[in-house]
Amino acid sequence: MMMIPHIPEDAPFNSDQRAWLSGFMAGLNSRLIAGESIASAPAAEAAQTIHILYGTQTGNSENLAMDAAASAKNLGMAPEVRGLDDIDMGALATMRHVVIVTSTYGEGEMPDNAQLFWEALSAETAPRLENLKFAVLALGDTGYDGFCQAGKLIDTRLEQLGATRITARLDCDIDFEDAAAAWFGETLPLAAEKPVAAATPTVAPAPSREATGWSRKNPYSSTMAVNRCLSGPASSKEIRHFEFDLGDSGLAYEAGDALGVMPVNDPALVDLLIARLGSSNETEVGGSSLGVLLSTQYEISTPSRDLIAEIERRASHEELSHVVRNGDKEALDAFLWSQDSLDLISLIPEGSLSATEFVSFLKPLQHRAYSISSSPKEAEGQVHLTVASVRYHAANRDRGGICSTYMADRVAEGATAGIFVSPNKAFRVPGNDDAPMIMVGPGTGIAPFRAFLQERRARGAKGRNWLFFGDQRRDSDFIYEDELSTMSRDGLLTRLDLAFSRDQDAKIYVQTRMKENGKALFSWLQDGASFYVCGDASRMARDVDAALGEIIAEHGGMTPEKAGDYLASMKRDKRYLRDVY
Ligand SMILES: Cc1cc2nc3c(=O)[nH]c(=O)nc-3n(C[C@H](O)[C@H](O)[C@H](O)COP(=O)(O)OP(=O)(O)OC[C@H]3O[C@@H](n4cnc5c(N)ncnc54)[C@H](O)[C@@H]3O)c2cc1C
Ligand SMILES: NC(=O)c1ccc[n+]([C@@H]2O[C@H](COP(=O)([O-])OP(=O)(O)OC[C@H]3O[C@@H](n4cnc5c(N)ncnc54)[C@H](OP(=O)(O)O)[C@@H]3O)[C@@H](O)[C@H]2O)c1
Ligand SMILES: Cc1cc2nc3c(=O)[nH]c(=O)nc-3n(C[C@H](O)[C@H](O)[C@H](O)COP(=O)(O)O)c2cc1C
Repeated sequence: MMMIPHIPEDAPFNSDQRAWLSGFMAGLNSRLIAGESIASAPAAEAAQTIHILYGTQTGNSENLAMDAAASAKNLGMAPEVRGLDDIDMGALATMRHVVIVTSTYGEGEMPDNAQLFWEALSAETAPRLENLKFAVLALGDTGYDGFCQAGKLIDTRLEQLGATRITARLDCDIDFEDAAAAWFGETLPLAAEKPVAAATPTVAPAPSREATGWSRKNPYSSTMAVNRCLSGPASSKEIRHFEFDLGDSGLAYEAGDALGVMPVNDPALVDLLIARLGSSNETEVGGSSLGVLLSTQYEISTPSRDLIAEIERRASHEELSHVVRNGDKEALDAFLWSQDSLDLISLIPEGSLSATEFVSFLKPLQHRAYSISSSPKEAEGQVHLTVASVRYHAANRDRGGICSTYMADRVAEGATAGIFVSPNKAFRVPGNDDAPMIMVGPGTGIAPFRAFLQERRARGAKGRNWLFFGDQRRDSDFIYEDELSTMSRDGLLTRLDLAFSRDQDAKIYVQTRMKENGKALFSWLQDGASFYVCGDASRMARDVDAALGEIIAEHGGMTPEKAGDYLASMKRDKRYLRDVY
């Protein structure tokens, strides 16, 4: 008689799974002993649902959620992937197995699409979740103070509400891909109620994402077709327009996506660092030359936390020691403002830090993200960017932001740079071509709105379009003036309101114009307009949010609380969308 063997000792099951499987096999064996045919066993049960929820600003968490879903499917589960903004507490209370992937934004804050979820989860009225098993994967960047704070908060709160962890939270730094894949490889089988058919050890990109193969780790070498300055000679800023050719890369994007650009460090700074270390370009560190490592592999401008700590330990620098040791973030930020790695190693005796030691304290050089300023429907085969060059002078040295000045100064027309598309699926023109659209984008914040307007023109969308734009001075900073004027003349731009902050004594900002036109703005919202904001996060987007609340309260005749509810429902309906940095 055929018998099912025992489970081998080294089979990859935890104790619960092993117990269930033993019971299952014992039952099967007793049915075989009783002469029952296995073929007559009951039909297979429905696959176990696993909810994979993401909180994201720029798509990394969503991409990981999609990859994890593909793996969960391979394991025989039924994954359901949703953004956290789609989940209310009633729905959460019915879920049994949840994996949450979330990034952190702003200064230790939730990404936009997780804000309402977090408000509800952290409220006193949140339901008990004793029936929920969960795991949290947190994405972040150790360069920020609130490292993975959003994931940490959600993880702790779920536990407080009685939910049980499937596995410990993983906090990922900017190089998250491998660690996240390994974590999913362990977590998904553990989330299974019953042993899974075949555990996949790693998570591969979901089929829908691996189409072109170009990514942060494998950027496409694109030719710079146009590199020109948009701001006038009298401007105190330098905003540039770049056009990259997509060639035969197969790279595709949509208006609203961002482009990742892989920078190369400034050779002048590399030389100064090597000289200060008392080394040479050819000095070998871990099998590579120091010159190559400092040019292309490591962040040498913004000092890493490890480097700051090491220099503080070695240098007798009263102010640095004071700001590092008393944990005052603002004082440390103020001390570090405009200081790069060279400034820091200049605080210790020349040659006292070896090249190998120095490199060991650095973080990997990262791409920079830029909101794409073209629609592929008009800029066929190209992707356009609108970038402010970061330039300043400190301690007798001209300094530059790594990526913005790399593109401005060292990627001439005809030269190449490594790029990849970073989709931002939440940031799109309204799906309904007839719906009105309000865009607030001062400075480089205009980038995605140039793309949105091109997109609507190419689609022949009839919806009304209103743009609030501004910068320092009309004479020198009215970038894309010709294009915007044409769009106004042609009726594509129904309204264009401009705010030049330094053309008069008192500052005029985009929110000044919004308030002046509050009645019309509220009526557009009532007509179903989507409201978009792009540009500076810490000052502009915060003040625009406050102004919007005031306008809704005043012109909708609402209390501030009701206006808050109105804004919350716009966020839930994905009609209040931001791309801020
Ligand atoms: C989703 C997203 C979209 C974005 N879209 C755009 C866009 O469309 N256009 C755009 O221009 N940018 C955009 N950015 C910002 C962009 O990614 C970079 O952060 C920016 O170009 C600066 O990068 P950098 O490498 O040139 O500078 P870094 O080398 O990263 O240096 C920046 C640092 O320099 C220091 N610094 C800057 N100015 C000064 C100063 N005056 N004095 C002293 N120190 C200073 C600060 O420490 C600052 O953090 C976007 C960012 C995100 C996340
Ligand atoms: N953290 C900082 O201190 C700082 C400073 C500058 C730029 N940045 C960053 O530099 C990048 C590029 O900046 P950008 O060229 O796009 O433009 P920007 O520096 O944001 O300036 C665009 C316009 O916004 C105005 N502005 C300043 N504060 C504002 C507020 N609270 N509300 C509304 N408008 C405000 C500016 O006016 P005024 O400049 O006349 O006030 C200017 O007219 C962004 O990443 C931005 O975040 C940061
Ligand atoms: C403007 C900005 C602010 C950020 N703030 C934080 C932060 O406070 N803490 C943190 O750990 N990571 C922070 N990050 C890093 C992001 O969480 C990280 O890049 C993450 O991979 C983004 O994932 P997402 O695309 O799913 O939003 C910030 C990134 C940006 C661009």
